[in-house]
Amino acid sequence: MNIILLGPPGAGKGTQAGLLEDKFDMAQLSTGDMLRAAVKAQTEVGKKAKAVMDAGELVSDEIVSGIIGDRLDELGPNKGIIFDGYPRTAAQAHSLDEILSKRGRTLNHVIELSVDEDALVDRITGRYACTSCNEGYHDRHKKPSKEGVCDICGNSAFKRRPDDNEETVRTRMEEYRGKTAPILPIYEDRNIVSRVDGMGDINEVADALNAILS
Ligand code: AP5
Ligand code: MG
Repeated sequence: MNIILLGPPGAGKGTQAGLLEDKFDMAQLSTGDMLRAAVKAQTEVGKKAKAVMDAGELVSDEIVSGIIGDRLDELGPNKGIIFDGYPRTAAQAHSLDEILSKRGRTLNHVIELSVDEDALVDRITGRYACTSCNEGYHDRHKKPSKEGVCDICGNSAFKRRPDDNEETVRTRMEEYRGKTAPILPIYEDRNIVSRVDGMGDINEVADALNAILS
């Protein structure tokens, strides 16, 4: 099974992709996570991407489609994929079609998480993650069970993303509205789009996704 999770910044794509990975034994491919890893490692891709990401704009189609193809080859043919944050433009959607068909894969579902934009700023400015295993948390909606200690790996250091400030979030939302939401009709024409209310709590959203995928 190959699925795309679509939604604006803070919609819950990463949170839900992490849950689906465990439940359906799939792999999450987040271009945002891959680009942040490249920035941290100061690779050529990371050097090109850093300023663009910090401004909340989109990294070039060639870069992101390149890293998606490479990662799919590493994973091999049998693992189901959750695309998180890719594709984000019409050009990326067309590249994904080619990338998948070359590898004998088909797209089964495109799921849009619908959310209220005002809630997104609250979600994003409260977000943080473990510096060791990258597990995501939130100041109010998802705290570690023991304060200051990661539930998954026991680490006690956390980080916040440089693009998680209100001004950059507004630019990221504009990019979503202007370039990403318009790709939905490509998939509507194939009858593979479902919409899930992303405003429920994390478990309610997960139940709605499970109902589509089971
Ligand atoms: P990316 O990392 O993909 O960021 P994004 O799309 O802006 O989305 P986020 O990761 O901010 O949100 P999310 O939907 O994953 O929400 P999360 O689950 O964390 O991209 C970053 C940048 O990289 C881009 O701006 C661009 O520059 C570049 N880039 C990446 N991909 C690209 C591409 N394909 N092309 C070009 N450029 C690209 O949830 C947010 C918070 O809310 C968390 O704290 C979580 O705990 C909490 N939360 C989640 N669900 C709920 C809920 N139901 N109720 C309450 N709280 C919740
Ligand atoms: Mg994310």
